[in-house]
Amino acid sequence: MCGIIGIASNKSVSMNIINSLKKLEYRGYDSAGLATLNNNEINEKKCSGRVEQLEKILFKTSAEGNLGIGHVRWATHGVPNTINAHPHSTEIVSVVHNGIIENSNDLKKQLELKGLKFKSQTDTEVITLLLTNELKTHQPFDAVHKTLKQLKGSFALGIIFKNFKDIIIGARRGSPLAVGYSKDENYLGSDSYALKTMTNKISYLDDGDICVLTKDNVSFYDVKKNKINKEVFILSDDKNVSDKGDYKNFMSKEIFEQPITAKNCIHEYVDKIRDDINFYNFPIKPQSINKIVLVGCGTAYHSCLVAKYWFEAFTSLNVETDIASEFRYRNVRFNKNNLYLFVSQSGETADTAAALDLCKKNGIKTCSIVNVVESSIARNSDWVLPIHAGPEIGVASTKAFIGQMLVIYMLCLKIADLRGDMKKKDYQKKISNIKKLPELLERCLKVEDKIQLIAKDFLDSKGSMFLGRGSSFPIALEGALKLKELSYLHAEGYPAGEMKHGPLALIENGLPVIVIAPHDKYFHKTVSNMQEVIARGGKILLITDSNENIVNENIRFKIDLPLVEESLSPFLFTIPLQLLAYHVALLKKCDIDKPRNLAKSVTVE
Ligand code: F6R
Repeated sequence: MCGIIGIASNKSVSMNIINSLKKLEYRGYDSAGLATLNNNEINEKKCSGRVEQLEKILFKTSAEGNLGIGHVRWATHGVPNTINAHPHSTEIVSVVHNGIIENSNDLKKQLELKGLKFKSQTDTEVITLLLTNELKTHQPFDAVHKTLKQLKGSFALGIIFKNFKDIIIGARRGSPLAVGYSKDENYLGSDSYALKTMTNKISYLDDGDICVLTKDNVSFYDVKKNKINKEVFILSDDKNVSDKGDYKNFMSKEIFEQPITAKNCIHEYVDKIRDDINFYNFPIKPQSINKIVLVGCGTAYHSCLVAKYWFEAFTSLNVETDIASEFRYRNVRFNKNNLYLFVSQSGETADTAAALDLCKKNGIKTCSIVNVVESSIARNSDWVLPIHAGPEIGVASTKAFIGQMLVIYMLCLKIADLRGDMKKKDYQKKISNIKKLPELLERCLKVEDKIQLIAKDFLDSKGSMFLGRGSSFPIALEGALKLKELSYLHAEGYPAGEMKHGPLALIENGLPVIVIAPHDKYFHKTVSNMQEVIARGGKILLITDSNENIVNENIRFKIDLPLVEESLSPFLFTIPLQLLAYHVALLKKCDIDKPRNLAKSVTVE
């Protein structure tokens, strides 16, 4: 998704803008650009492709100036090319934008009637030309205010003006925007992470806010132009965040970090002295909860699906799960006694954020399970449960998935305990088992060598299927998602029991079928489904923790995992599937950390 940077300083800013744009690369993008103010003139540089390309342009042509804005663009309106890249400038104003202007076609017609000419196919250029028009009669702040009133849709903006060598104006509606403070320098950024190398002091704009930055000062205004104060947050220090260490890429680092991140998360929530889980300040008394509603997108949604099995197993509660982009447009019957849980690694996913807003508008208290605690979703929630996974840089979510499941699992146990749905001794037994999880994950990672060999067999396959029952079904979905997004191979996740209802027709000689079969109550049924696949020529990779002897020479590969209690198997079985997707993608020489067409933080719907 698009990312914005703005720097007001007493020294040249272009290289710091480039460095900060590199921090925003994780969001996924297809073009980059910046504009500085030099001798009161706007100096714009942009290109399609990577920030490195922009950097090369700067080496050749330089962009001096102590004030500037930068952007990485993820195309929505108009193809990814240099003209459509941001900033969008006229002689007197330059704009970077994240979001979508929904009434851009109408505004464009009005502006063209006034004789203004468009260069790009973007919705953003409408903002530039509206401002150009307003600046004929207004000073920058009022011109911005008047322009914003005409816009429908979502935006985070960074704007600089010819002849105003001191100011950057930022504005937010819908899309997130942060401000950073330092000595003789102030910053604007799409997220705090992009600013982290320059400062750890951050404030966040709320919807409707405008900010005016100079190198020495930042002023904030609400939608009615009243001056407002903002809380300053001091960010925690994430050492080694952008360091891959000895790993080939961030994804492998993040896969192998999972035992540690799980341990950190357990440390945060489990009281080892009392064998209890610390969750306080529930927005609804657990005894009064009517239903659990879990909402997320992609991998985060898969953790919601796993949660359904846990809540139904351990509590007497009904559970509903929904994909955020569906939830936000359904006629949901809101109920103040339902506990609404929004799950998101980035905390910026537009659909999840909108689903949460919808709850708030309906007077519902919300809870979010996030990795980025400074995120919009976290700040908009009544109750935030961080997963403590540390920054996840690889676009494909790995350690965040384990972290999301872990927090939800602990929350489920706590609710079961507080409601009296679970016997105390069972509750405490489960807590002592959670404490063993990091070591068990460590053991699962040891299957890497075997997976590396298996991965070769996937290279020539037309597609693959992932099968599981019970809580292994969402794990099958997650395994298939990881394989498709990383290796661009077609993969389907299915409940094993559903095969006869259609998907069995896909099975032909040599089709790889990954069977996820923990030794749980579904085990023998899953094995029967596997036999049906074998009978039709499917090439089986069986992943199991069962030591039952399943004799079948047609099982091409078998991965053995440590045997654990049934409810913990989703954690363990995730690991070989992550490794499989990773190694297939590596053999196919795919861009592991930045798969094509994808963004780390999906801030537009
Ligand atoms: C898949 C993946 C995505 C995200 C989804 C939601 O590997 O990373 O499916 O899970 O875009 O993102 P968050 O969790 O940031 O809301």
